[in-house]
Amino acid sequence: MSTVDSQQRVLSGMRPTGRLHLGHLHGVLKNWVKLQHEYECFFFVADWHALTTHYGDPALFEENVLDMVIDWLAVGVNPGSAALFVQSKIPEHAELHLLLSNLIPLGWLERVPSYKDQQEILHAKDLDTYGFLGYPLLQAADILIYRAGYVPVGADQVAHVELTREVARRFNHIYGKEPGFEETARAAVRKMGKKAARLYSNLRTAYQERGDHEALKKGQALLRAQQNISIGDRERLFGYLEGGGKMNLAEPQALLTPASKMPGLDGQKMSKSYNNTISLREPLGDVEKKIKTMPTDPARVRLSDPGDPEKCPVWQLHQTYSDQATRDWVVEGCKSAGIGCLECKKPVIEAIVAELEPIQKEAAQYEKDPDIVRSIIAEGCETARESAKETIQDVRDAMGLGHW
Ligand code: TRP
Ligand code: SF4
Repeated sequence: MSTVDSQQRVLSGMRPTGRLHLGHLHGVLKNWVKLQHEYECFFFVADWHALTTHYGDPALFEENVLDMVIDWLAVGVNPGSAALFVQSKIPEHAELHLLLSNLIPLGWLERVPSYKDQQEILHAKDLDTYGFLGYPLLQAADILIYRAGYVPVGADQVAHVELTREVARRFNHIYGKEPGFEETARAAVRKMGKKAARLYSNLRTAYQERGDHEALKKGQALLRAQQNISIGDRERLFGYLEGGGKMNLAEPQALLTPASKMPGLDGQKMSKSYNNTISLREPLGDVEKKIKTMPTDPARVRLSDPGDPEKCPVWQLHQTYSDQATRDWVVEGCKSAGIGCLECKKPVIEAIVAELEPIQKEAAQYEKDPDIVRSIIAEGCETARESAKETIQDVRDAMGLGHW
């Protein structure tokens, strides 16, 4: 069971661990820009998450948080459609993390695949910490605190969304029926107004007494259309309609972000740790230099040596940036040694420069006026906090902590 609020809500976060690059643009960011037109979106800077691996580096946060949001804005993430905020400004994430930590078995966290993997990859850092073990639960709290229905993530994060579903299920199993549920639900029915309340009650009876599934659907549609009830009350009414208790925490679904096809300068995945990136703010002269010095098919030592695009990282860039005619020209010219590699790189350089130029112009505007960005973040925090407060109150109530 889920509510339409959840079904319309998307949440995602990004760690502020470095400059955003073309890999982010073609993977995560373009996806966010698309989603913001289709859903109510919450996008946040996951600074507490970055802390789990970079706690020794305060300068990182000072430098990267604002710059990251500037990059989001510059590529077209629209603060009018999405709330943009900073995790550490919303203490409810931490409170929910703490509350949930009491009911989550250690084994659930030890079994998360990224735990052992990352410890091995990042063995230079000390990741034998409480925070690092618990970070998937913090991520679950990030998601559950907004009752988000969809979470756009890369393949490496799907297990975390799965954990989040299990956490929600466990919570709902333990606390699903809040005390006095019947009365609060009936009060919520009255808040809908006479006409809607009567219709709701009739549909509820039709479903519960006669198993009329059409009535259930109509009842859910009716709730969706209600403007004047809170998210909490809506959740209650969804539960009451079906005969369950109040559904406290919504189970989210991962929206798998298609893997970016953007290769790095060496043909591996573009990633800061491989040192093969073109950042969104890369000076355009450097873009040209970097592409010009990119390795190509090693068989092409001389201009007269034919090559094979399949063995060349530049060809992968053509697949993102070039139209069919240009790609045909590349394949033909490469295999017949009819074009040189520098010549072949030219359309790619032009396309990337054309892509980055307007982004950098936008970013420069925001860099000149960081107060605008700060106020966008403040506004996003306010929107997020309002929603987070409502959930945390319901969670406190469910756990018996709501009286004070
Ligand atoms: N853990 C994610 C990452 O490393 C970032 C993140 C934190 C996140 N909280 C989230 C993503 C909640 C989606 C939803 O990339
Ligand atoms: Fe790569 Fe183009 Fe050179 Fe062929 S011609 S090796 S595709 S850069």
